[in-house]
Amino acid sequence: MMYQKPMLKEGSLKDQVIVVTGGGSGLGKAMSTYFLELGAHVVITSRNFEKLERAKIELEQKTGGKVLPVQCDVRNYAEVEAVLAATLKEFGKVDGLLNNAAGNFISPTERLSANAFDTVIDIVLKGSKNCTLAFGKHWIDYKQPKSTILNIVTTYAWTGSAYVVPSATAKAGVLAMTRSLAVEWAKYGIRTNAIAPGPFPTEGAWDRLLPGDLKDKFDMKNKVPVGRVGEHQELANLAAYLMSDFSAYINGEVITIDGGEWLKGAGEFNMLEDVPKEMWDMLEAMIRSKKK
Ligand code: HXC
Ligand code: NAP
Repeated sequence: MMYQKPMLKEGSLKDQVIVVTGGGSGLGKAMSTYFLELGAHVVITSRNFEKLERAKIELEQKTGGKVLPVQCDVRNYAEVEAVLAATLKEFGKVDGLLNNAAGNFISPTERLSANAFDTVIDIVLKGSKNCTLAFGKHWIDYKQPKSTILNIVTTYAWTGSAYVVPSATAKAGVLAMTRSLAVEWAKYGIRTNAIAPGPFPTEGAWDRLLPGDLKDKFDMKNKVPVGRVGEHQELANLAAYLMSDFSAYINGEVITIDGGEWLKGAGEFNMLEDVPKEMWDMLEAMIRSKKK
């Protein structure tokens, strides 16, 4: 299948330096892999340094590229500034920021503590803001001619979705930030875009959004008009295109890659209406048991 294959010309990201938050696992790792294959140097960040070190070895062996792992909780602005400093020390410049790190889990909203709600908002919205602000200030101060911010949102950034309300609230904020800065920062050569993926299986997402039997009860491909879930390479193809100069005239856009899913049934998790109330204790325990 063509969509499982790399799409861009060899060297399309040659010598670009790209920071990928949450780059050590899941979709962040898949996009990092392709950036490296296209000639970029990639900085991967997350809270778990051992995971990042394992990913560095794996990605460098697979692609022959250069990976810098930097531990960083995106909720902490000082740690984000330290990523920028480490990137500049290692590579002398930075060209792209991929705001991919996220936190999320399913829950009826009334079951959430204030801190649970804040935790997701802080990772997704505040984390994306922290990275965007730190890197944007750098690019403006240093008068870098061109740079790119790419934000990973979801289709429920505009539809909203029951049972993932903190995530929907935060992703909507990230989308608003994308469109706002696309206008405000274009004069500094900064392009800002977003991708809204539909379901792309990853351990991080599936363990928290479809724990236990929910994976079988709600087969995500049944929600998708094209009849399948996404392949990591097809997302990586889109992300690499938006990071590259080939997309130089695309600014302030959100590109949906979901096989038509949101149009079929807007609201990703509205189907959880079918989960009996008494099952939620068990589901929550399963999710919590997956915490590494
Ligand atoms: C209710 C919960 C809970 C649950 C945690 N909490 N899990 N409340 N139900 N299942 C509460 C805790 O009790 C605590 O509140 C607060 O949330 C913070 O929890 P911690 O475990 O201390 O937080 P932390 O260690 O920072 O972990 C963050 C996390 C965790 C979001 C809770 O799941 C995580 O690390 N996630 C990162 C990866 C991830 O989520 N990937 C999926 C992205 S998928 P109290 O009040 O007790 O202190 C995605 C896809 C969208 O975004 C679209 C799909 C199609
Ligand atoms: P994932 O593997 O769980 O990725 C989330 C990443 O974020 C992890 O690498 C995690 O690493 C990192 N992270 C979480 N909290 C962090 C924090 N406070 N500071 C720094 N890093 C943090 O899930 P995924 O499916 O690949 O998701 C990637 C992105 O795609 C997310 O933005 C998600 O919302 C979006 N998305 C996914 C899907 C899907 O179907 N998979 C659909 C739509 C959108 P650590 O735990 O090591 O910190």
